[in-house]
Amino acid sequence: MFNEEKFVEEAVEKLKSAVKGKAIIAVSGGVDSSVAAKLGSMALGENLVAVYVDTGLMRKNESKEVEALFKKMPLKFVKVEAADRFLQALKGVVDPEKKRKIIGELFIKIFEEVAKKEKAEYLIQGTIAPDWIESGGGLRDTIKSHHNVGGLPMKMKLKIVEPLRDLYKDEVRKLAKYLGLKVAERQPFPGPGLAIRIIGEVTKEKLDIVREACHIVEEEIEKEVEKGMEKPWQYFAVLLPIKSVGVHGDKRAYGYTIAIRSVDSIDAMTASFTHLPYSLLERIATRITNEIKGVNRVVYDITNKPPATIEWE
Ligand code: XMP
Repeated sequence: MFNEEKFVEEAVEKLKSAVKGKAIIAVSGGVDSSVAAKLGSMALGENLVAVYVDTGLMRKNESKEVEALFKKMPLKFVKVEAADRFLQALKGVVDPEKKRKIIGELFIKIFEEVAKKEKAEYLIQGTIAPDWIESGGGLRDTIKSHHNVGGLPMKMKLKIVEPLRDLYKDEVRKLAKYLGLKVAERQPFPGPGLAIRIIGEVTKEKLDIVREACHIVEEEIEKEVEKGMEKPWQYFAVLLPIKSVGVHGDKRAYGYTIAIRSVDSIDAMTASFTHLPYSLLERIATRITNEIKGVNRVVYDITNKPPATIEWE
């Protein structure tokens, strides 16, 4: 049985002895990095610098929420505006692994810039077990490079500390609840953000589309959850690079396709698609096609993991 109290006690002690001086932590507002930051602030206080990189790849309203969460903790909070740098670095890139590597490397580069300025030598990360298991190594196949592992450059200038390395998602969620973090019930969001929910090249226009589509999916599913539907484990929208013909009013339209993904899982290693009611799917499709310019078709992904993964890239 996972014992939250004992884990926290030991993790704080380990962090205290592992980190000499200042550490930085990348925070995204996700459960993993928030729990790692909380443990870090318990161990190091103001010697922990929490860096939030606004990549422009985050969900709607996410930046504001993250800022509000971390400004309450006894640590130093730094926000870096980097949306233009990420868009520039991703220009023309289509391959999912390349996207992941570029995003991971730029993240690290920005951290290193901040770390240098802050004179920190350590980097605390919220890496959890599935991140490194699925990123390959040894006899394991690389399924996808999770950005907090596969994206690291060979010559790291920072020493990595990973307090959640041996935990699975359900355990991290229990910890978040135990630590009183409001993110406890929040669904997971991948490090590379919306960039891997756009199949093909990432552009500002496509980011705006997929951000709004993800928001609609979340809003409609959460409304249904309030009415009693069981909350799916993770749900989002993916923008496909496929245009199809439609009709808007009495005019021909030629627009993008959005895929909706909703899955149930315990540890993200396997997942099954959620049997969402058709009426809910219809509401989502209607809102997406009415409210988002340039989208005229919505499909539902009915694949389990395996053989698919949860995210499309
Ligand atoms: P997949 O797509 O591999 O996703 O079935 C499993 C879970 O991990 C999330 N995910 C990531 N999380 N960095 C992360 O921190 C990443 O690069 C990354 N890629 C996927 C995904 O959203 C799902 O919850």
